[in-house]
Amino acid sequence: MAFKPLIAPSILSADFAHLADQIAEAEQFGADWLHIDVMDGHFVPNLSMGAQIVAACRRVSELPLDVHMMIEKPENFLDAFAEAGADHITVHAEACEDLPQILDSIHSLGCKAGVSIKPATPAAALESALGTADILLVMSVEPGFSGQAFMPEVLPKVAALRASLDALQSKALIEIDGGIDAHTLPLALQAGVNVFVAGSAIFKHPEGIAAGMESLQGAIMEKQQ
Ligand code: DX5
Ligand code: ZN
Repeated sequence: MAFKPLIAPSILSADFAHLADQIAEAEQFGADWLHIDVMDGHFVPNLSMGAQIVAACRRVSELPLDVHMMIEKPENFLDAFAEAGADHITVHAEACEDLPQILDSIHSLGCKAGVSIKPATPAAALESALGTADILLVMSVEPGFSGQAFMPEVLPKVAALRASLDALQSKALIEIDGGIDAHTLPLALQAGVNVFVAGSAIFKHPEGIAAGMESLQGAIMEKQQ
């Protein structure tokens, strides 16, 4: 694969009392993007963070801020997240009545546009977005919580999306989110994933954030040899 695999630590698993320090450590040890999970208690059964946290991350990091909107009616909040400093805004296909329109709105705010699907949603739900989305985010757990087990049954969907993008000669990236660690990352890389979101494997690694980053980087290097 010509494209360098990227690691996107999910701050949902970080220690919020030390968020700036934890982001700095992930960045120092090679984080490529920062993944920020936005949840509304409706689209998913959990609440997390809003635009204020994105603005706080913007103040302490220059990494691309990769905002994953697990909310209903995401169109109502695009401006606020773009204004807060999001670089990428990813909405869920299941939450969008007019996906192409929402992706256009994200682009017109100067952000890269992503679209995500839950584990049970077929790749066909992304069809209307294949020509426009910059990022296809495949969930490999039910969205809502970090620390869940990876669902390998989504891998054929990843491979099908990779084939569709290649056929279109698209430069869109495939991102995967949920249960990624040094054991599951190689399976996803093999299926054609470009960007690996990881929460627990980095921020809850028993030997610390640096060890978490190194273990994911090691898994990438081993697979690429
Ligand atoms: C879950 C979130 C994920 C989560 C991943 O809905 O979208 O980004 O933080 O956490 P891990 O890597 O622990 O599964
Ligand atoms: Zn996420």
